[in-house]
Amino acid sequence: MPKRILSGAQPTGNVHLGNYLGALRNWVTLQHEYQSFFCIVNLHAVTVPQDPKLLAEKTRELARIYLAVGIDPDISTVFVQSDLPQHAELTWILNCVARMSELERMTQFKDKARKQSENVTAGLFDYPVLMASDILLYQTDLVPVGEDQRQHLELTRDLAIRFNRDYGDTFRVPQAYIPKVGARIMSLSDPTKKMSKSDDDPNGCVMLLDDPEAVSRKFKRAVTDSGTEITFDDSRPAITNLLTIYQLLTGQPTGEIESHFAGKGYALLKQDLADVTVEFLRPFQERVKGIGAEELNRILGQGREKARQIAGTTLANAYAAMGIVGACTTD
Ligand code: AMP
Ligand code: TRP
Repeated sequence: MPKRILSGAQPTGNVHLGNYLGALRNWVTLQHEYQSFFCIVNLHAVTVPQDPKLLAEKTRELARIYLAVGIDPDISTVFVQSDLPQHAELTWILNCVARMSELERMTQFKDKARKQSENVTAGLFDYPVLMASDILLYQTDLVPVGEDQRQHLELTRDLAIRFNRDYGDTFRVPQAYIPKVGARIMSLSDPTKKMSKSDDDPNGCVMLLDDPEAVSRKFKRAVTDSGTEITFDDSRPAITNLLTIYQLLTGQPTGEIESHFAGKGYALLKQDLADVTVEFLRPFQERVKGIGAEELNRILGQGREKARQIAGTTLANAYAAMGIVGACTTD
């Protein structure tokens, strides 16, 4: 039995180069080695206010993006979280296993809560438990995510271990799978912060659906370090970030990249990087446009059916383990 992976992203804002290089790109490779599940986590999105019309559009757009980066729906299961009521149901069960104190320690919750101290919903607090449900429902072995999700994965493991201890072996205990290179792409306008859709400066973040002008402009304005050397060097985070993006998009070894840019200026690095990015984005954006509504419905429907079989079995096992029975159960 090949090992199973599951990952997901929220259909909010725009998907950026950090999401691609830190997450989506790895999913595309991993799907050939593992039995793969890729989810569009729209229930996570509503933990903070969303415009309903936009959320609906972005949910479909993200599905198109998954497919256009190269996730193959014939070998991977691509589905929308809200299509499977089991995610919300298992969340309730795991809410009765999770401790307030451990959720209070989640740094992502603390950060988000600080930013909007007036209206922190119970859903925002519970976000990591919904994420644990996404993972545990599919008996997942590995969860490919960025470094920022490590703590949520630890929580997921703790919940699985606690449930198994208290009610009998029900969930496989998953592991985080965090790539070494590109796990953290930094903002182009502030290389001490990760590239993020919530960046205050829109120039810090290259979107996968940006047009060539926007891509060139953003790289042109990218912050650089003092000095002139173009080498991978942790003490010079801005240039290292640009070179890392270059490396991940071209697949060239670091030594080759450094000799290519030896003696050249930052302007050329930015120009080359913009060219490489535009050439990568052009065919990708054409594929996004080429996926029609009917085809998308067919793929997401097929994903829902494949997901339902596994999620349904796991949820039934969890209910049975806890003694939750009802009208359909024989004595
Ligand atoms: P999010 O945009 O927060 O829903 O994240 C979707 C996926 O992209 C997650 O696996 C994140 O860890 C990953 N990710 C987000 N921002 C970055 C970044 N700047 N560098 C690398 N990976 C990222
Ligand atoms: N919290 C994740 C993020 O912001 C998204 C997510 C939700 C996820 N459920 C998941 C990632 C399950 C992996 C597995 O990136």
